[in-house]
Amino acid sequence: IKRVRTRHFQNAKEQGIKITGLTSYDMLTAAIFDQAGIDFLLVGDSAGNNVFGYDTTLPVTLDQLIPLTRAVAGAVKRAFVVGDMPFGSYETGPDEALHSAFRFMKETGAHAVKLEGGVRSAEQIRRIVSAGIPVMAHIGFTPQSEHQLGGHVIQGRGEGVEQLLADAHAVEDAGAFAVVLEMVPAEAAKRVTDELKIPTISVGAGPHTTGQLLVWTDWAGLTQGRIPSFVKQYANLSQVLTDAAKAWTADVVSGAYPGPENSYQG
Ligand code: KIV
Ligand code: NA
Repeated sequence: IKRVRTRHFQNAKEQGIKITGLTSYDMLTAAIFDQAGIDFLLVGDSAGNNVFGYDTTLPVTLDQLIPLTRAVAGAVKRAFVVGDMPFGSYETGPDEALHSAFRFMKETGAHAVKLEGGVRSAEQIRRIVSAGIPVMAHIGFTPQSEHQLGGHVIQGRGEGVEQLLADAHAVEDAGAFAVVLEMVPAEAAKRVTDELKIPTISVGAGPHTTGQLLVWTDWAGLTQGRIPSFVKQYANLSQVLTDAAKAWTADVVSGAYPGPENSYQG
């Protein structure tokens, strides 16, 4: 099997081929998604919500994401693995950003890093790329700045499309190999995709992008509570696990588990 590389992202854009990505935070899901043919795995700081139990991504640290990223990178044979730079690991400037990116590349086996922000993060992207590390940019709704943005608000609506386009061009000019567009209207995402040379990845940005990315726990029906309307649920793992837990409990209580086949003899 040939590994997915940044050139495959660029080829996809040029040839109109779709790319798929899911988040992953552990080796079991990483191996499954890799073997199923998912093109890239993002070890997102959404681990804050989906692994560590925080309400936002803000508390997540590099020290928390690095072991998860190592597990994912170690489990894949084909998928491209992206480490997500957490809040507080790149904003003070290009030096801090490069130092954090080095940690992902040296300590985890990830193939690229992602960071949030367009114009405001361009110098950071430029420095990381100049060191030979591919950067996936992330614009539109950026969860690390949700308090500034006033919650989970759709970006790039109306006049906001001008800021979105400025951010998109800034990250392309800075050398990003791809850009995630989160929660923007489909038409705005189409404009960005048409204007840029690099591939675009939609997270709630409609169908006109090069690729699609979802948080795996939302997509597989494991997340408890509300999930965004742009997510389509492809499994109901909460129900599967609930049914399994109840069935096992009932079997233990009744004595049906463990049977002779589950017990050592002699
Ligand atoms: O952390 C994450 O899962 C993300 C995607 C939703 C883009 O950044
Ligand atoms: Na993220």
